[in-house]
Amino acid sequence: MAELREIRLTVNGVVRQGRAEPRKLLVDFLREDLGLTGTHVGCEHGICGACTILLNGEAARSCLMLAVQADGAEILTVEGLATDGKLHPLQEAFWEHHGLQCGFCTPGMLLAALDLLSVNPSPTEAEIRAGLSAVLCRCTGYQGIVRAVKAAAERLRAAG
Ligand code: FES
Ligand code: FES
Repeated sequence: MAELREIRLTVNGVVRQGRAEPRKLLVDFLREDLGLTGTHVGCEHGICGACTILLNGEAARSCLMLAVQADGAEILTVEGLATDGKLHPLQEAFWEHHGLQCGFCTPGMLLAALDLLSVNPSPTEAEIRAGLSAVLCRCTGYQGIVRAVKAAAERLRAAG
């Protein structure tokens, strides 16, 4: 067995640490070592986007990184979106506008949407579709997702 390496990172505002083999994927470290199973694993080779997280404020695929590469990083996963027991406006909008069915793509979709709205707070429908095109949904046909992101953008702008 390969030597285990110490990994220390901040996840959802909390410093977490663990030990992992150098070959361990970040998504597996989050799920198996830190117990954060909200981040899903689909294809494991960078196609489906289910494993999308925010890494130092930008969307990244956690199946394309090794856990050791994230040492020292700040990570946001779907578990970190709600605050004080209240859903994030994006989560509320996905609920209200039927932005999910099975929910498998949803964690990645939410983080990709958050990344999009952080750089473009007033996206057009075409920009929403382009911004989320790196996350695949096999259920919804995307209509509800696009409506939800549009609604969340309005809510977030109104909240200032
Ligand atoms: S599991 Fe990472 S892109 Fe599919
Ligand atoms: S809601 Fe099922 S994959 Fe998107």
